[in-house]
Amino acid sequence: MTLQDTLWTFDDLVGAAGGRADNASGAPVTGLSIDTRTLAPGDLFVALKDQRDGHEFVSAAFAAGAAAALVSTSYEAKPGDGPLIRVPDVQAALENIGRAARARLSPDARVIAVTGSAGKTGTKDMLRAALSRVGATHGADKSFNNHWGVPLTLARMPAARRFGVFEIGMNHAGEIGPLSRMVRPHIAIVTTVDAVHLAQFPNVEAIAEAKAEIFQGLEPGGTAILNRDNVHFETLRRHAEEVGARVVSFGQSARADVRSKVLEIAADGTAMQIDIGGREIHCRVGVPGIHIAMNALAVAAAIDAAGADVETALAALPTVPPPPGRGVRTELPLGDGHILLIDESYNANPASMRAAFAVLGTVPRAAYKRRIAVLGDMLELGAEEQSHHLALKEAVDAAGTDLVFASGPNMEHLFRALPPERQGAWGLRSGEIEDALVARLAPGDVVMVKGSNGSRMGPLADALRKRLAAG
Ligand SMILES: Nc1ncnc2c1ncn2[C@@H]1O[C@H](COP(=O)(O)OP(=O)(O)OP(=O)(O)O)[C@@H](O)[C@H]1O
Ligand SMILES: [Mg+2]
Repeated sequence: MTLQDTLWTFDDLVGAAGGRADNASGAPVTGLSIDTRTLAPGDLFVALKDQRDGHEFVSAAFAAGAAAALVSTSYEAKPGDGPLIRVPDVQAALENIGRAARARLSPDARVIAVTGSAGKTGTKDMLRAALSRVGATHGADKSFNNHWGVPLTLARMPAARRFGVFEIGMNHAGEIGPLSRMVRPHIAIVTTVDAVHLAQFPNVEAIAEAKAEIFQGLEPGGTAILNRDNVHFETLRRHAEEVGARVVSFGQSARADVRSKVLEIAADGTAMQIDIGGREIHCRVGVPGIHIAMNALAVAAAIDAAGADVETALAALPTVPPPPGRGVRTELPLGDGHILLIDESYNANPASMRAAFAVLGTVPRAAYKRRIAVLGDMLELGAEEQSHHLALKEAVDAAGTDLVFASGPNMEHLFRALPPERQGAWGLRSGEIEDALVARLAPGDVVMVKGSNGSRMGPLADALRKRLAAG
């Protein structure tokens, strides 16, 4: 191991965790892991309690090459265990390590936090790729945005990084504030505010208030980057200004500080002319959809606020892929031709459904004759869930959707509202429509699959990939 690979020396880790070491010394750690299935040799294994108690996996962690394990004081060491760091509360200790990682960053480092009802991961990924062009950058894995994902990402940040990009999410009010105070961002982005997790909130305005908690941890003199086109812009601006933040807005609005002047949306991405404080920059975004282009404006604003060269950084955007299940495209052989699968199965809410339909509507008819939507329920929408589903009919129509397959009790309402010739099949569960869908497919179809994660449209997309690839 070179010195460069060291993330934490053992002693620093014990100190940061506020723990006590069983062995006087241990090897430096090169990473942190909470899951023995993905643990890399040299990692600190953090025995968190989630669905299972991580303490059951300490032996497996050492067998996989863990350098040390962070465990509860009550853990009984097993034969074969390596160095243990004992703490009263493993979750709190992980947070302490995260705070220590933040505290040891250079004063020149810039930390950016991303929240919003949709587009956090996509924006974080774009920002990470863009900033990597201009300086050493650390960022969250996947959608690591909750009470363990955020401190874990922070604790994994090497001291010598110039940029850190964090995703902060929530299911309930009061969750973003503590995470933001842990991350202490210089720049906070709110991508958009929409009806997501509405079941936990009285209305969308309350969601905006909860997103505004991201400003609680903003560093003095920090920047809030807000969506000028969102109806909750003023609420967010008010909260940002209350903590003394500089507000930079983005969007299509002429009043936005960072705005898209020319916008060419195509099935293979978006070309934009961006006006950023009077400067004009050309930008191409590889993932199609106006919502992704708007996220890219937030990325541009954040790069600028971080003091980096926007043009150099944005040159990364044409090749940033969408996160899995958020618009990944695959051509699958069928008969003497193929179909195009657009996999949006990772999640869904009214805003991202509309965005996905808008993208479906841009797929050229010359290449793909028939547009098929395969839809699962949007979950957690609360009392208005039925009308949120029915209201999608407009987006279905606007995209020129030829055929709709649907699953789930809520999507049934939308399905029944369609004319019979556009009804493919409906089933209570996603697996129940698989055969009917495959039977109706023809070469030259584009198939967009989308639903909330819990609606299990992902397995349906997987099944489609398997069955068609197998011929
Ligand atoms: N600004 C936006 N408005 C509406 N939909 C968006 C926006 N940005 C991305 N989306 C769509 O929302 C879906 C989820 O995207 P993404 O995974 O980036 O969001 P997220 O906020 O990280 O979600 P999660 O809360 O599950 O972590 C994708 O289908 C994506 O295309
Ligand atoms: Mg996410």
